[in-house]
Amino acid sequence: MASAAFSVFDRGQAAPSDALGKSRDGPVVSQATAPARSAAFHVRRAEDADLAKVIALDMEVTGVAKDAYWADLHERYATRRPGERFFFVAESADKRQILGFVIGEIRAWEFGSEPCGWVFGVSVDPEVREHGVGERLLETISAAFRDAGVGKMRTLISHGNHLLMSFFRSQGMMAGPYLQLERDLP
Ligand SMILES: CC(C)(COP(=O)(O)OP(=O)(O)OC[C@H]1O[C@@H](n2cnc3c(N)ncnc32)[C@H](O)[C@@H]1OP(=O)(O)O)[C@@H](O)C(=O)NCCC(=O)NCCS
Repeated sequence: MASAAFSVFDRGQAAPSDALGKSRDGPVVSQATAPARSAAFHVRRAEDADLAKVIALDMEVTGVAKDAYWADLHERYATRRPGERFFFVAESADKRQILGFVIGEIRAWEFGSEPCGWVFGVSVDPEVREHGVGERLLETISAAFRDAGVGKMRTLISHGNHLLMSFFRSQGMMAGPYLQLERDLP
């Protein structure tokens, strides 16, 4: 899939006065610390060179370092079965920063489900949130799922994650027909 270029201010929003600030309640980012973050970005498939930046971004967002987990995910989702596994990154126009990523795949017949696209990870750098990066990432993986022939996209989020709930709801995702069950193992 070709990469697509977007501007973080291209959704009809006025750019903040210093062209680097946040749109809602986040901190203002100074030009000295994040010059690329006011620039356009593009979404493309993840490559080997992105792994360290993805690990760093996830560490910043979740507070947990998971190098081996990400190396494994990268190997499985960025290098194998590209027709059904998707790992996209949003990269700043100067190609110096990874602003966000989304990972998912088409899975078939598990839990009795017909083939559908599962999104199991989406994350955007806190300093560039609320400028459409997450939406573009989800649009990109939605299009990849659609192009691969499925007509449904699913994800799982925890009950308390209001930010992800707001995000996915804004993208038209609603409660589905499955109920997650679990128990502790002795
Ligand atoms: C959820 C997340 C991906 C959204 O990314 P983003 O680039 O800020 O999202 P967008 O700017 O594209 O916003 C799209 C819509 O989501 C909703 N949204 C985004 N941020 C929101 C917020 N802080 N409060 C309420 N709604 C919000 C809005 O409806 C928004 O549309 P609008 O701008 O027209 O109002 C990002 O906040 C994030 O990475 N959060 C952490 C996710 C996480 O925990 N990942 C690790 C496990 S997978």
